[in-house]
Amino acid sequence: MREIFAETTLSTNDLILPIFVEEEIKDRQEIKALPGHFRESETSLPRYLEQIAAKGIKSVLLFGVSHKKDATGSDSWREDGLLARMTKIVKKTTPELVTILDLCFCEYTDHGHCGPIDDHGCVINDASVANQGKAAVIAAASGADIIAPSSMMDGQVHGIRSALDKAGYLETPIMAYAAKYASALYGPFRQAAGCSLKQGDRKTYQMNPANRTEALREVALDVAEGADCLMVKPAMAYLDIIRDVKNNFPLPLAAYHVSGEYAMLKSAVAAGLLDERAATMEILTAIKRAGADQIITYTALEAAGWMQV
Ligand code: PBG
Ligand code: ZN
Repeated sequence: MREIFAETTLSTNDLILPIFVEEEIKDRQEIKALPGHFRESETSLPRYLEQIAAKGIKSVLLFGVSHKKDATGSDSWREDGLLARMTKIVKKTTPELVTILDLCFCEYTDHGHCGPIDDHGCVINDASVANQGKAAVIAAASGADIIAPSSMMDGQVHGIRSALDKAGYLETPIMAYAAKYASALYGPFRQAAGCSLKQGDRKTYQMNPANRTEALREVALDVAEGADCLMVKPAMAYLDIIRDVKNNFPLPLAAYHVSGEYAMLKSAVAAGLLDERAATMEILTAIKRAGADQIITYTALEAAGWMQV
């Protein structure tokens, strides 16, 4: 009876798995900060993709780990750059996987910021948006199904939408990281993606965790600029924001259960303090109950296994 009256249920349709692809390596490398995750090489990636699809996962979020970093992150919009190559590998190996491309430059810049910086170390907003347009077109041309700009530049959704439309990719949707906070919970990711900052922080472009109504202003801008789906990030510590966005905007909503949230869970499990399966399913259910339609989570593979039984 408890089950038939459950208000929230989880399915593999809800899960999006982040994956990391590193260039110029032979074998996959374990990511110590994210237990159970690897930086895949371009040759190990197909096998991993097949495992993902076999588990019933429907969607992946792609991150590149670049060895060709420069001041602007220009490898991301090269026709034969890492972003283009990894996207093509996914679509060739597992065309059935909805391929979401995380579009940002911090994995491709030598200073680690999410766009080119000026003499004072501040990101140049409009130059970054122009570059995002170029990288989005390369991603779409390489087969990306959805573009997910994560740099929190003002005007990024509009810039990408115009660039895609102009290049003929009228039907490629944009999943906007609409309310992304300057969170301490991204620590393990920066180790995983090799995008730690040389200096400064991301507080000039990501949101203050103290702010709630600002999230609605940020989301409204992205909706007006043409976002097709929205995202709140992080998830667990921001359930109020997820619910606010869901109540105010009739668009699909994703929540990003980020690397630090995963690391906390895994550490507690490793210390024998939590039952992994019960704790994971409770967290994912809570994120969905708060209003998320999709959950981007490093737990996706294990959670999918638990959902099948
Ligand atoms: C890049 C990006 C980050 C994450 C996703 N895309 C790092 C950041 O903004 O510093 C974090 C994801 C995670 O912690 O799991 N802009
Ligand atoms: Zn970034």
